[in-house]
Amino acid sequence: MRTRNKYRKPTILGCNAGSRYSTSVVVLSLLGCLILLHLYTYIHHTDRTGGQSQLRLNHHPQFIELQEVEEENIQIPPPKGKRSPRAAKRRPKRTTTLIDEFLDENSQLRHVFFPGHKKTIDPIQTPANESYYYYPGRIWLDTDGNPIQAHGGGIVYDKKSRTYYWYGEYKDGPTYQVHKKGAARVDIIGVGCYSSKDLWTWKHEGIVLAADETNETHDLHTSNVLERPKVIYNERTGKYVMWMHIDDANYTKAAAGVAISDTPDGPFDYLGSQRPHGYESRDMTVFKDDDGTAYLIYSSEDNSELHIGPLTEDYLNVTSVMRRILVGQHREAPALFKHEGTYYMITSGCTGWAPNEALAHAAESILGPWETIGNPCIGGNKMFRLTTFFAQSTFVLPLPGFPGSFIFMADRWNPADLRDSRYVWLPMIVAGPVDHPLEYSFEFPLWSRVSIYWHRKWRLPHGSSGF
Ligand code: DGJ
Repeated sequence: MRTRNKYRKPTILGCNAGSRYSTSVVVLSLLGCLILLHLYTYIHHTDRTGGQSQLRLNHHPQFIELQEVEEENIQIPPPKGKRSPRAAKRRPKRTTTLIDEFLDENSQLRHVFFPGHKKTIDPIQTPANESYYYYPGRIWLDTDGNPIQAHGGGIVYDKKSRTYYWYGEYKDGPTYQVHKKGAARVDIIGVGCYSSKDLWTWKHEGIVLAADETNETHDLHTSNVLERPKVIYNERTGKYVMWMHIDDANYTKAAAGVAISDTPDGPFDYLGSQRPHGYESRDMTVFKDDDGTAYLIYSSEDNSELHIGPLTEDYLNVTSVMRRILVGQHREAPALFKHEGTYYMITSGCTGWAPNEALAHAAESILGPWETIGNPCIGGNKMFRLTTFFAQSTFVLPLPGFPGSFIFMADRWNPADLRDSRYVWLPMIVAGPVDHPLEYSFEFPLWSRVSIYWHRKWRLPHGSSGF
């Protein structure tokens, strides 16, 4: 027995030579299959994203223009007041960053971040060659000449009337703090709605969901918080459904509210709020997939992770299905979109009204796993890219007729005067390889790069908005 055992060398698996051989064959075949599968996915993916639609985009002169990298060279002004040489020795000069300047109401650069308006709808004042240009960060006026109030908003295209509807927080009231250390706030006024045929000229349709000024126990009482309203159309019920973040002034209620309307221009009837799936819900959005299934995506667990789950068929409730995504990543302001079967999402970090770095994420299935693919911002300067161009994501609107091209919509919050917060809309293109190491795809580029291009002024390519 001992002699026989001498020649039977134990393997890692404790098998003999025969089974070792078959194990190797199995492992090798499995590896081969995996490589083939990845090669197929890669080629298929490159085909999908790098094929016809990409060629079409790249050859469109206006798209070439939109993908040009525009640099910004902003000099930080010298510190105010002279420092005595002795004081300078005692305390070394604090380095001021552009973000300090952005947050300083008295900064000499205030006009750079919050300039006056340029876009005007008055054809007498607007030279023809300036028409249809977006000026990110300037005051945008509606067709009555009033600054647009649709912060933290989103857009719905109404097929019946061939009209875009833009909904957002109507914040035209005084900014104040409930507590010394509390976040700056504006009382709830309601959800503003604007309509447009060309995505540039916006007519105010009124406040389509108004605050409740008398009932202190109502979610929409002026003393509460209503943020990030998003509307989707339900083909089955023929209703427009609005989801929004509902909170108390201290952000402890952390709920999602829902309202409904027969028409896109309201009025919306408020149905109530809930903690979806029993969890906190703060920054949120809704996304309607090609098959009509809609999803609620919200920051939860103290904003440390996002939750995503399908809505019921009428879009008025969540179902029991929910997945935790980007766990431990502390992201908010989600803006979800889809391109060639892949789901993408832009999020921000959690720094109150102050801007921070955007990240793009991608997933093959909307319920995950989601992978972070890097900062999508291109151009400006390093500080512009690290602050999402001094703004925070709110929505991504696909440009019909131009696959792979989108409008990235963001808010440049003005915490000193929230009603004066600005809109930063920029062209966004999904194309080319990602520049971030991949976590679970064996280094095969399953996703395309999401690129948001900074421009001081830009306009939509002809044919993209119907004008
Ligand atoms: C960041 C969120 O994205 C905003 O919607 C708002 O809730 C602010 N925080 C409040 O500080």
